[in-house]
Amino acid sequence: MSDHPASPILLFDSGVGGLTVHDALREVLPEAPVIYAADLAGLPYGTKSEAQIAARVAGLLGRMAERYQPRLACIACNTASTIALGMVRDVLEIPVVGTVPAIKPAAALTQTGTIGLVGTEATIRQAYVDDLERAFAADKRLLRVAAPALVGAAEAKLRGEPVDPALIADVRDRLAAQGAGLPSIDTLVLACTHFPLLGEEFAAVFGRDVAQVDGARGIARRIAQLLEGQPFAAHGPNRFVVTGPVAGARGLEQALAARGFGAAEAF
Ligand code: DGL
Repeated sequence: MSDHPASPILLFDSGVGGLTVHDALREVLPEAPVIYAADLAGLPYGTKSEAQIAARVAGLLGRMAERYQPRLACIACNTASTIALGMVRDVLEIPVVGTVPAIKPAAALTQTGTIGLVGTEATIRQAYVDDLERAFAADKRLLRVAAPALVGAAEAKLRGEPVDPALIADVRDRLAAQGAGLPSIDTLVLACTHFPLLGEEFAAVFGRDVAQVDGARGIARRIAQLLEGQPFAAHGPNRFVVTGPVAGARGLEQALAARGFGAAEAF
């Protein structure tokens, strides 16, 4: 029963990126039971086709909702949300919150009027992003680049591995080339939930004057609003489940324990 006090919030991503949404959620709902599902067997999403992503995400979320009986599901992934949010809402009977590029807050923040958006290949080509640009940044310049290598870099960083700054410098250079002749970028939309895990690395390359904007806090607030007044039962460690072999989560032990998750489990 999805309105039972022990019923969890289901957070879903292709990998560990959605932990950035989890961290923001913890600030507003510290007591809520959470099941975090990482589709490691499907990672990365950003290089897949729309059809592959939509079928996979809708199918998996349907099965996960059946197994875990969540009270709410959050697709903590820009790629999956910009492609499959509507479809997932059709499949599930609970509220579904998506994660879409934070173009609106970035447009409100920029002074120079030039915004850089960094996402996966699949995200930056979505009509959903065109619509957000039209609605909120029509009078700004939105430069988009894909940075698929940063997804792996964020996964590795959370497993304790170093990040090659050249990967971020490449993003900076491609944005600069696209924006030649325009006022400089002062606001960066991190349009992949993995990327805020590299916030320090982005700051080191872009400088601290360039504001980094992502949707995590807004999503957390939206979830809290939808669940307002609902009781949460006391519970044990939160659960971290992965598709594919559980060994895929090797190296994440510290990051998971620090966030109150038990050992990774297979879905
Ligand atoms: N974390 C995902 C996002 O927000 C995508 C990573 C991937 O390519 O799987 O877009």
